Amino acid sequence: MSKTSKKTFYISTPIYYVNDIPHIGHAYTTIIADALARFNRLQGKDVFFLTGTDEHGQKIEKAAAGKGMTPLALANAVVGRIKDLWKALHISNDSFIRTTEPFHEKGVQKIFLRLKDKGDIYKGIYQGWYCVSDENFLADDVPMQPEGFKICPDCGKQAVLVSEECYFFRLSAYQKPLLDFYAQNPQFVRPPGRMNEVVSFVRQGLRDLSITRTTVRWGIPVPDDPKHTIYVWFDALHNYLTGAGYDWDMEKFEKFWPADIHLIGKDILRFHAIFWPAFLMAAGFPLPGTVYGHGWWLKDEAKMSKSKGNVLDPYLILKTFGPDPLRYFLLREIPVGVDGNFSHEGFLHRVNSDLANDLGNLVHRTLTMILGYEKGIVEEGDAEQDGDRAIREAFEALKARVAELFENYALSRALEEIWAYINSVNKYLADNEPWKLAQDEGKKKRLARILYQTAAAIRGVSYLISPVMPESARKIWGLLGEAGDPSAVRYDDFRFEGFKTGTGIQRPSPLFPRVVLKDFLQEEVPPPPSAMRAPQKKEEEMDIITFDEFKRMDLRVGEILKAERVPGTDKLLKLEVNIGTEKRTMVAGVGDVYPPEEMVGKKLVVIVNLKPAVIRGIESQAMLLAAETGGKAIIPFFDRDVAAGAKVK
Ligand code: MSP
Repeated sequence: MSKTSKKTFYISTPIYYVNDIPHIGHAYTTIIADALARFNRLQGKDVFFLTGTDEHGQKIEKAAAGKGMTPLALANAVVGRIKDLWKALHISNDSFIRTTEPFHEKGVQKIFLRLKDKGDIYKGIYQGWYCVSDENFLADDVPMQPEGFKICPDCGKQAVLVSEECYFFRLSAYQKPLLDFYAQNPQFVRPPGRMNEVVSFVRQGLRDLSITRTTVRWGIPVPDDPKHTIYVWFDALHNYLTGAGYDWDMEKFEKFWPADIHLIGKDILRFHAIFWPAFLMAAGFPLPGTVYGHGWWLKDEAKMSKSKGNVLDPYLILKTFGPDPLRYFLLREIPVGVDGNFSHEGFLHRVNSDLANDLGNLVHRTLTMILGYEKGIVEEGDAEQDGDRAIREAFEALKARVAELFENYALSRALEEIWAYINSVNKYLADNEPWKLAQDEGKKKRLARILYQTAAAIRGVSYLISPVMPESARKIWGLLGEAGDPSAVRYDDFRFEGFKTGTGIQRPSPLFPRVVLKDFLQEEVPPPPSAMRAPQKKEEEMDIITFDEFKRMDLRVGEILKAERVPGTDKLLKLEVNIGTEKRTMVAGVGDVYPPEEMVGKKLVVIVNLKPAVIRGIESQAMLLAAETGGKAIIPFFDRDVAAGAKVK
């Protein structure tokens, strides 16, 4: 049976590493997947939405050792946190897979043996550089550093040289089948730019892939040869099969496989767009429809990640706003394929303007008028006039457009169009001035029509936003006197005029809090539960450095010679600094506190032997020291004159 006639929709997120608690970047992937899953349910599809955790490998082994825990104890603690977060964000996953579950381990071993029997897995010797942080083998052309080691080009960490007996997967044999497959299925990798990236990589040639390790214990043993542990990516990618029932619920598996979309961050594109289809081809499974590589959320222009120390805890927002404003912001602010810079200012601005002002006010005003002028009962009133008809017809057009945009993963555009409609309804109210009609006994029926039309439009909006803001949609639905949940109505069956006359309206309370930045940033992030607190203390102890290590930092007094804003940013300044021996350029996120003209002539502490970083296309060759408080960087200046270049010790 073809996928279309089966009417199923299988969507997955990456499975998250359990070395640390999830941040806003992880929440983003899961929220996109959730909105798509909910939208497909509205379309009447039988949806299978899978997420879970990636629990094996050296990265987890090391993180657990660092916290004085066993890998499984760490995984258990973090899995609890991840599941709690998905609950708090109203994620509607149908299943949650952990790679330490026996059914998964068995499934992976079975596929391993199948490929070995076929000759696609063979034994050899692997020699090369391995990045533990990314669990990735470095390509041969990664240059050797003068110190005699290689740096992982993806995360910038030092790789380790490994030389060991291992099993290889015959990836080289799949170069041509993969290129043929990409050519025949241009939608396999999306957005299109990412497909080009993948194709040009594969065209350069593929080397066989080492898929076992003898130095890593924490993982699935190779069947019949247990001194070898299966490489974590071979293990993890197969979650998409085992999580859908492979080898333990074949009926479910047959129903849902192949996945319609694997939603992933662009950081793990090659694993999903090259290794994964090659493994599947080798094992004889049909291939997934699409691998969609979304962009990153950056903080201060760098990818949010634990190792950079710039992660944002979603609970800071969740405890003040609940899940919907965060879900809305993440999906509205940037198109799914590109990167975005996260700031609490940007978040508050959107929430206050789009949610509290545009939508919240519309709902509040309309319901208050229906309560005040119509005793809370919606009547249809006079026949539709042109302007009324336009509101109804615009909704039908919007509904079709939103479906099209969702099908193309253009979630931000879909929300933009819904908000344009909300604003047209606000204008409709302003133009028709129902508050004036209410003063005129003879205009009661006209007034009723306008309020009916507006309430029906709001009901329509609540339906269309339900995949993104399920809780707010349900609340608005309830305020309008509708029973149940909007998501119970099939997309094709939803009609503007499905709003019944005679419906009793509820008294509204504000849907979205209006919060001022200053108050918001004073909120404390909730402490993690005790399961995670004790190990963190250990980690702090491990962060102690020796005096020799401290001495390696070259801290000096720098004098700012020039300062200008980096175009297109609110916070970044490009600074020219005299460090005594030379002039350096540096980029610093202090422009929200210090205007450029105030910086010129200032003397401050800079670290001058940090590896340069490219920020917004500018090479930053030094870094200033500042205290972080309330999301702002405050620079310590000197209270006596000091010469530029003086050592700070
Ligand atoms: N365990 C692997 C995935 C295996 S899938 C078979 C892994 N895990 S991860 O926890 O490090 O990251 C998972 C995903 O989180 C990324 O691919 C990406 O989707 C998401 N993100 C992590 N940081 C992110 C941002 N800063 N911004 C957006 N998404 C990010 O990789």
